[in-house]
Amino acid sequence: MIVAIDGPAGSGKSSTARALADRTGLIYLDTGAMYRAVALRFLQLQVDASEENVPLVWEKFSLDLSHSADGMKISLNGVDVSKEIRTPEVTDMSSRVSVLPDVRARMVQEQQRIAASREEEGKGVIVEGRDIGTVVFPSADVKIFLDASPGVRARRRWVDFESGGHEVDQKAIENALVERDERDRTRTISPLKKADDAILIDTTHLSLNEQIEMIESIVRERMDRRAV
Ligand code: DC
Repeated sequence: MIVAIDGPAGSGKSSTARALADRTGLIYLDTGAMYRAVALRFLQLQVDASEENVPLVWEKFSLDLSHSADGMKISLNGVDVSKEIRTPEVTDMSSRVSVLPDVRARMVQEQQRIAASREEEGKGVIVEGRDIGTVVFPSADVKIFLDASPGVRARRRWVDFESGGHEVDQKAIENALVERDERDRTRTISPLKKADDAILIDTTHLSLNEQIEMIESIVRERMDRRAV
């Protein structure tokens, strides 16, 4: 069973997917964290986000994903980088590296491999990102596309940064988010886009709990149908 949740930054994908994984026993896969780890490697090497630097990044690049109480733990080359990948600098770099074809090809392949091995173990996965319902798992059992107004999404991101101990101006966040959205939506390969058969949910006026419950009922209905 594969549940795909796509949408722009701050639409509530991660919080919803994490809560849903807890409630349903599905395994949570945060694909944005994978692009963030690639971005961190570019930053560690102090090289630009360009195609010619990708082989250098792959020279020493090993990702390890595991599960922790707060969701997904991610290690890069043996070091836990779960917190480090959330800084504004990595956030900005992640949308730059995610336009590179070789980066996308490797990440998509890895995501498909992870889901296939979970399914072999008899476990379902809940995958969140930008191109999950369109490219990574076009035949996912459930496809959700979350959206919300830029102002509300920026406010949510600001709260995330603040609670992570990063002081950032709310207007600066909104500007960065709008710029990142534009890049994610207009890139040539796998742009952020609702799959034709995805269910669109606008979360602007929904509380987190309302949004989780709405999606949980869609997922449970699908799980029940599969069980029959
Ligand atoms: O979901 P996030 O904010 O952690 O994602 C960080 C960046 O990674 C986002 O700006 C675009 C990119 N991304 C992507 O291109 N495809 C995905 N499936 C997930 C994220």
